[in-house]
Amino acid sequence: MDVNLNYENGADEAPLDESILEQRALTSTLNSFLVYCKAGRYNLTESRRRAYQNLSDRHRSLLSSFYTDHLNAVDNALNANAEFLNMVVTIAANEFEAPQDKSEWDGATGIQVEHVKSTIKQIFRDWSREGAPERAVCYGPVIEALNGLFSSDIRRSKRVLVPGAGLGRLAYDIACEGYFSQGNEFSYHMLVMSNFLLNHTTTTSEYTIYPFVHNFSHTSRGANQVRPIVIPDVCPSTHDISTTENFSFCAGSFTDVYGRKEMLDDEVEEKWDAIATVFFIDTAHNVLDYIDTISYALSEDSTSYWINFGPLLYHFEDQQSEATLNGPSDVENLSIELPLDKLVQVIEDSGFVFEALRTGIKTTYAADDRALGRWVYDSVFWVARKRRPGEEFTSFVDEIPTR
Ligand SMILES: C[S@@+](CC[C@H](N)C(=O)[O-])C[C@H]1O[C@@H](n2cnc3c(N)ncnc32)[C@H](O)[C@@H]1O
Repeated sequence: MDVNLNYENGADEAPLDESILEQRALTSTLNSFLVYCKAGRYNLTESRRRAYQNLSDRHRSLLSSFYTDHLNAVDNALNANAEFLNMVVTIAANEFEAPQDKSEWDGATGIQVEHVKSTIKQIFRDWSREGAPERAVCYGPVIEALNGLFSSDIRRSKRVLVPGAGLGRLAYDIACEGYFSQGNEFSYHMLVMSNFLLNHTTTTSEYTIYPFVHNFSHTSRGANQVRPIVIPDVCPSTHDISTTENFSFCAGSFTDVYGRKEMLDDEVEEKWDAIATVFFIDTAHNVLDYIDTISYALSEDSTSYWINFGPLLYHFEDQQSEATLNGPSDVENLSIELPLDKLVQVIEDSGFVFEALRTGIKTTYAADDRALGRWVYDSVFWVARKRRPGEEFTSFVDEIPTR
């Protein structure tokens, strides 16, 4: 199968200054991939080598060669990751049309380099065999719910949207089930890497990465920190079903691309039979905007569903305290966080009826299963159907457990 994915630009043609901003966002992201190794060595190994040199002779001899050998192994793993990233950047620079002269690229920020580390861990989550158990917990219920709603003979005609698609595995797996599937992302780290994984891998187990190398804590054995993970576990470009026409990726902010906008009289927007959000709704500055967009983008002509899985880890909660809100259009400086019961009520008031809701599903995110500690979320899963006009329904709010 040739998955020459259609990386559409979902936003309308950008005015010039916006396109300059876009290019700066792209090139600084590409630069963050390129400086990853140098930054990693500076922060992870060079500082530790200096600390080692400052230890007393007795402490150094107690560590014997373990510590220096381990730091060398960390450097080797960082080098290997960097080699992989450099290849990804070369392809992306060409396909995303970055200036050929790298001196014109914008510099990367520290936060962007941190995003490179999380991108590498997300490759492990989405495209490795070892990531399968985590995917089964997070993506499994979504695919199971979709397949329960739409029988295999009608799936080809069903359009499923995956906002905040990350590195694209869920959207890809949904396409493999026979649906028309579109992933949506606005992060260049995700777009650049998903483009590589979906379009440019040529066989399974083609590359080796070291996703756990950045963490020195919660490690039972030094070897675990520098253990290799081979990717991809499936290779989209050689898979034997054709997803060429039924799979695409759309770049842009979810609310901008799929939300209500000025339409010309003869314009018709294609709507979606299902929207699948995983670890996404809490990325909103204002979750009500996401709910409005989901409601608007779902079909009214046929029965349509919102399937959600994930925690309520509101990403901008901490920003709120520093916010200096400059009026109602200053979306970037606000954070609206709703507890689950209020969220369910708002979703119902926005025209949905819950058909299923489960809470307390123990979930990890790109977690190292060999680590001595990990963050575990109590995730929420639901299937909400867009209500028919005037339809009576029973609220799910009282079903929300108190703990
Ligand atoms: C926590 S990650 C989850 C990724 C993937 N769904 C998964 O489960 O691994 C959230 C993703 O949503 C993306 N995202 C956040 N806000 C977005 C927006 N307004 N439009 C499109 N994507 C967005 C982020 O870039 C990030 O990749």
